[in-house]
Amino acid sequence: MAVIADRCPDIEVHVVDLNSERIAAWNDPDLARLPIYEPGLDTIVARARGRNLNFSTDVDRCIEKADMVFLSVNTPTKQRGIGAGKASDLRWIEACARQVARNAKGHTIVVEKSTLPVRTAETIKTILNSTQERGKSFSVLSNPEFLAEGTAIKDLEYPDRVLIGGEEEHAIEELKSIYERWVEPAKILETNLWSSELSKLTANALLAQRVSSINSIAALCESTGANVREVAEAVGRDHRIGEKFLKSGPGFGGSCFQKDILNLVYLCRSFGLEEVATYWEQVIDLNTWQQRRISRLITEKLFNTLAGKKIAILGFAFKANTNDTRESPAIRIAKDLIEEGAILSIHDPKVKIDQIRAELGEKLKNDLGEWEFAGSIKDACNNADACILITEWKEYSTINWMEISESMRKPAWLFDTRCIVDSNLARKSGLNVWILGEG
Ligand code: UDX
Repeated sequence: MAVIADRCPDIEVHVVDLNSERIAAWNDPDLARLPIYEPGLDTIVARARGRNLNFSTDVDRCIEKADMVFLSVNTPTKQRGIGAGKASDLRWIEACARQVARNAKGHTIVVEKSTLPVRTAETIKTILNSTQERGKSFSVLSNPEFLAEGTAIKDLEYPDRVLIGGEEEHAIEELKSIYERWVEPAKILETNLWSSELSKLTANALLAQRVSSINSIAALCESTGANVREVAEAVGRDHRIGEKFLKSGPGFGGSCFQKDILNLVYLCRSFGLEEVATYWEQVIDLNTWQQRRISRLITEKLFNTLAGKKIAILGFAFKANTNDTRESPAIRIAKDLIEEGAILSIHDPKVKIDQIRAELGEKLKNDLGEWEFAGSIKDACNNADACILITEWKEYSTINWMEISESMRKPAWLFDTRCIVDSNLARKSGLNVWILGEG
């Protein structure tokens, strides 16, 4: 919405939320305190906020005044009931649709921005059209978001494509006219509603599948003496395959990949497509296995016991350039190591201690391991038996291993799950080095 406001100064954009603390943070004069860390976002917010970009909790009034409403609430995986652990929880989408139905005036275009199971637009339409008030009408469009965290602004400013699903030409044209301010028309694709919803799930499933595929090959490389980066480069040069999304790592995280595949699997099962469901499920199984095998391997290298050993965790975000920790591989790896009795010292340049607490629980001492927050890389590694690099933050690629190694307890290990350190320098410093996809 910030990008839309920035590109279209004549369009008034109101971002509304029930959470007043969140809205207050978006209105904070100190841009460093915006709720989301995303490179470039602060500059855009600074430019548009107060001009045509507004943040408020006045949901009803903003709906009433709006010509177009984007539904952008989250749709996490259901935790209980039918479809628990697989289907999307649509309670917030439904609540939004009802609130829009109640408060809208005249004709309103409702745009699904949240990633939704296929045919959700039907539900939204039914709710919207159940209001009997005269003079109220709605068009529903699907306009899935393809931005990736860390590169979101660039992804929106120079998108590969913009997808608009819908049936009513006038509504499609209205939404198109917004994007056309900065996106060339050939990049704006029109499909039917269901194709649009399914395209988003499919794109994420295919991207995640590539990550699981290369991670499976990484394990084989470690066993055979091949090097996964060399293999990835060799296969990626084939333009039919392409070089993107072939970086092996600790497994994919983030709010989308796992949730969307689970959703796809649930959808396939509900249509009786068992083989298709099982096929996609494997992408997640392999990802979980990848995370688990890393913690197992670390335990083995440290003489099969982690009790009382200090281990530095470098990086807690699910990828670099974001402070998002949702489904981060660091969570499962950290939990496994704590379970083995390790004392983790966790560093991340952008993730705050509260977020780590929310994922790992209180840092109380118990008979198992524990975790602490480290303010610097040095503090995290001081006296540690091992250092595990989990997020590919740039500052981790230039660590002075000579200095760090001196402060670690010997024999000391470095486990690089992102292949970003200079392994020769790290080895020269006296560390035992294990690199994912190389061994
Ligand atoms: C993803 C999609 O890319 C985006 O189009 C969609 O709108 C939302 O979901 P995001 O989750 O923000 O975006 O990040 P992405 O860059 O796709 O990375 C997802 C995970 O895969 C991260 O944990 C990342 O580290 C991992 N990954 C990605 C790899 O391990 N190797 C790769 O080569 C690429």
